Amino acid sequence: MTDAVGQAGPSGVWATAVGVARVRAMETAGERPLFRDPLAQAFATAGGRDPGAAPPARADEASRRRWLGVAFSIVIRTKFLDDLLERAVASGVRQVVLLGAGMDSRAFRMDWPAGTRLFEVDTAEPLEFKASVLRQERAVPRCERIVVPVDLRDDWPGALAAAGHDAARPTVWIAEGLLIYLPEDAVRSLLDRVGALSVPGSRMGLTLGSRGVVERFRDDAAAGSAASMWVWEMPEDPVAWLAGLGWEAETFTLRERAEVYGRPLSTPPQRDEGPGGLVSAVRPAH
Ligand SMILES: C[S@@+](CC[C@H](N)C(=O)[O-])C[C@H]1O[C@@H](n2cnc3c(N)ncnc32)[C@H](O)[C@@H]1O
Repeated sequence: MTDAVGQAGPSGVWATAVGVARVRAMETAGERPLFRDPLAQAFATAGGRDPGAAPPARADEASRRRWLGVAFSIVIRTKFLDDLLERAVASGVRQVVLLGAGMDSRAFRMDWPAGTRLFEVDTAEPLEFKASVLRQERAVPRCERIVVPVDLRDDWPGALAAAGHDAARPTVWIAEGLLIYLPEDAVRSLLDRVGALSVPGSRMGLTLGSRGVVERFRDDAAAGSAASMWVWEMPEDPVAWLAGLGWEAETFTLRERAEVYGRPLSTPPQRDEGPGGLVSAVRPAH
């Protein structure tokens, strides 16, 4: 199958990046969006997930609600990480690395200080798809944007260094909607490598699957859907876990951030909602 930009259609884990773009396009078209992502519509449409088309039929009300919850979490996490990146550049960080960048268009839609270098790491296929949509849209980045096609299970630090990343200077790392797709040992190895490339003053923004989410979604996840590929969720104490990896981290719940952003959740809190999956971390001086 080919799509509007003549590429093979999205498949496997990177198709999820197009689904994320669809949600961002819907938010952008809303009345009081928490962010504006003007390229999201083009990514979604080219990937066959036109935001204007009828949503896929859901098996039942419960699964429809779960899907709405995922869409809501994508909107809140996007705003959370936009703010984190703004704080990082305000603190003087000029290197940004998006791990599993997918259709993230922050290079094009955010204001970056002069000298900012933004690296997009993902596998070759989504990055080629993205490049063709960007060409079609004549999109112009607002910083130096460097694409690094590599599998995060391979020697990505080597590829990143070859692309010009300077590990002697601070970096802000983003892993948004990524870790939930990786087995535990891959998450550990990824974060060990991130740590090894992070001088003091570096920062990190992560989104973690909340505890129990993999099981909750497993039963009605359609084959090939995002949820069918989820495997990893956060440890019991994410702050302690990240401290062990050399980070001073804070976690935030979706509910709490949503409230701050003026989008309070209407559902009452459950007795124990567990730690939040939105992580902001700083690499301290030792
Ligand atoms: C749900 S998407 C999120 C994309 C982006 N971070 C965002 O929030 O818009 C997950 C992304 O992780 C990428 N990914 C998953 N496993 C990967 C791997 N082993 N190496 C490189 N990228 C990977 C996929 O290709 C996909 O683009």
